[in-house]
Amino acid sequence: MKSIIVTGAGTGLGKELAIGFANQGYHIILAGRSLRNLQKVEAAINEHGKSATSFEVDVRSQESVQSFMKNIQQSTLYGLINNAGVGHFGPFENLTTTQLEDMLQTNLYGTINMCQGALPLLKEENEGFIMNIISTAGLKGKKHETGYSASKFAQRGLTESLQKEYEGSGISIKAVYMGGMDTPFWESSDHVKDKSRLRSPRAVAEKIIEKIKENTIILD
Ligand SMILES: NC(=O)c1ccc[n+]([C@@H]2O[C@H](COP(=O)([O-])OP(=O)(O)OC[C@H]3O[C@@H](n4cnc5c(N)ncnc54)[C@H](OP(=O)(O)O)[C@@H]3O)[C@@H](O)[C@H]2O)c1
Repeated sequence: MKSIIVTGAGTGLGKELAIGFANQGYHIILAGRSLRNLQKVEAAINEHGKSATSFEVDVRSQESVQSFMKNIQQSTLYGLINNAGVGHFGPFENLTTTQLEDMLQTNLYGTINMCQGALPLLKEENEGFIMNIISTAGLKGKKHETGYSASKFAQRGLTESLQKEYEGSGISIKAVYMGGMDTPFWESSDHVKDKSRLRSPRAVAEKIIEKIKENTIILD
């Protein structure tokens, strides 16, 4: 059975992408730091006769990613969705080094670590895809989003370069840019005052799956 890794699959968009791709018949490898959240998603997928397994992994750590890749090396890997991400918002002058490092380590290095870990497995079959969940903050700078936007522009640069590097191979590299979604992402800040106008992560996941053939997906 072809497998797809989804990072940050315990909540928000990652959870909905995991369920959506499981319904398409893929085995889903759920990855994230909180095993409890992943196992809830795993149970929901398996209850519906679909297939998923959970793995604790911190995408910021090369060691953690390497040991995760060893654990899944028996899988027939078809896809990697780099969805895990964090955001810290507010005036630029108040942004702490810890917050900046958290965003760059997770959003940029996390994507790099996972791509470098998964590519040898994807190349075994020479087919499949890597999908990087970016944000419209990776297309345009926004007030009080300096660090987040910088990390997402970096993730975009990485993705566009990979698109060129793997052009013509069996592995397609996909970039996804979307606007605000109503997910736990906003729980630790008051940057978004009214979450009711944001899109549901399920609706966004459905759109992404609908547009899976496109290498650049913009949902603003
Ligand atoms: N919500 C929005 O408005 C919005 C808009 C545009 C783009 N995005 C992007 O969409 C993606 C998904 O975000 P979301 O809105 O669904 O937020 P979310 O519910 O907070 O999901 C983020 C997930 O990433 C995981 N994660 C964070 N750090 C990690 C790490 N070091 N290693 C492994 N997993 C990690 C978290 O799980 P653990 O804490 O258990 O690890 C969490 O499940 C992110 O890349 C975000 O930047 C969000």
